[in-house]
Amino acid sequence: MKNLLVTGGAGFIGANFVQYMLERYADLTITVFDKLTYAGNPQNLAPVADDPRYAFYQGDICDAEAVDRAMQARRIDTIVNFAAETHVDRSLMEPGSFIQTDVYGTFVLLEAAKKYNVERYHQISTDEVYGEVMTGRSVETDTLEPRSPYSAGKAGGDLLCLSYYTSFGLPITITRGSNNIGPYQYPEKVVPLFVTNAIDDKPLPLYGDGMQMRDYQYVLDHCAGIDVVLRHGQVGEIYNLGTGAETPNIVMAKTILNLLGKPDDLIQPVTDRPGHDRRYALDVSKIRELDWESRYDFSAAIEATVKWYVDNQAWWRRIKSGEAYQAYYSRNYAGRAV
Ligand code: NAD
Ligand code: TYD
Repeated sequence: MKNLLVTGGAGFIGANFVQYMLERYADLTITVFDKLTYAGNPQNLAPVADDPRYAFYQGDICDAEAVDRAMQARRIDTIVNFAAETHVDRSLMEPGSFIQTDVYGTFVLLEAAKKYNVERYHQISTDEVYGEVMTGRSVETDTLEPRSPYSAGKAGGDLLCLSYYTSFGLPITITRGSNNIGPYQYPEKVVPLFVTNAIDDKPLPLYGDGMQMRDYQYVLDHCAGIDVVLRHGQVGEIYNLGTGAETPNIVMAKTILNLLGKPDDLIQPVTDRPGHDRRYALDVSKIRELDWESRYDFSAAIEATVKWYVDNQAWWRRIKSGEAYQAYYSRNYAGRAV
């Protein structure tokens, strides 16, 4: 593993991963391949922009020729695929791009991985592919029961990866991560949305009764887990990746308000998301066997996250003041208050 292609590296988790890996390993080169959709932001990579080990290619993972050019020019031996359409609410409005990128784009990357005989193809997946889990915890062998176009697309990507392992012996690994929080998360996802709204004394639109459960993990724990799987994971295997503990959304919202010294009445109950998955819960014993452990529990993760958004207001104010963001915000939230 010397020359990594990190697709989707200008997004939230990808940008954290690129910074994490370059800080940690002196002998790597990293090529970010990213379409720069609304969620991709070159500013997320500003800290590494001048690093000679780093290069940026703008391109679509569905464009086989563009992927091929990067693979060849940068002598790629490892692909880590973060590129995806990622927001459940958008997948309910316009699912087409989710199927295109998350399923077809994965296929294009697998073909490139096969052609160039890579040492590893690693797929970044999600706990959402298991569907909602009302009791117990999902293990890696559980049946996939995705319930949104986003999670269905991600499940399709996972199955393609497994098929390339079985059919062609491609050395794939998959991690299924829980909800990440931390620096550079686009403020449509619930935590950065709530933190930035609260800073501005705007309402926090809480879907339904707020008793949905998510395993909120700090993004750097996720990055460390991916690194561990790249180095010590078994090919053909899937690893769940999260803290293994869940928090109800209402508690998450109140914790944010408390950290910012804002009143609970900023919470505004709104009409629920259609098909809203009530609970995700991961069994993380398999990845723990690789000597990985999350370092941030919920309190530490949310505290570090709130602090970053307080300290980096220029980053999110530029996004939130943009026309595209505001159009999305009204489309998703207008008329939703109950
Ligand atoms: P993000 O939306 O912040 O970033 C996605 C990135 O992919 C952006 O830079 C975007 O420009 C790029 N991209 C989108 N379509 C592309 C295409 N066709 N070609 C090339 N680049 C494209 O997403 P994120 O939250 O960083 O998530 C990264 C990965 O992790 C995704 O695969 C997601 O499914 C998975 N994941 C996310 C979470 C989470 O909580 N955010 C949890 C588990 C798994
Ligand atoms: P989100 O960040 O969209 O992640 P996901 O749906 O992929 O888990 O949402 C996290 C939780 O927060 C989920 O239960 C939906 C809820 N939520 C709200 O209550 N209000 C919001 O405005 C958003 C975006 C999400």
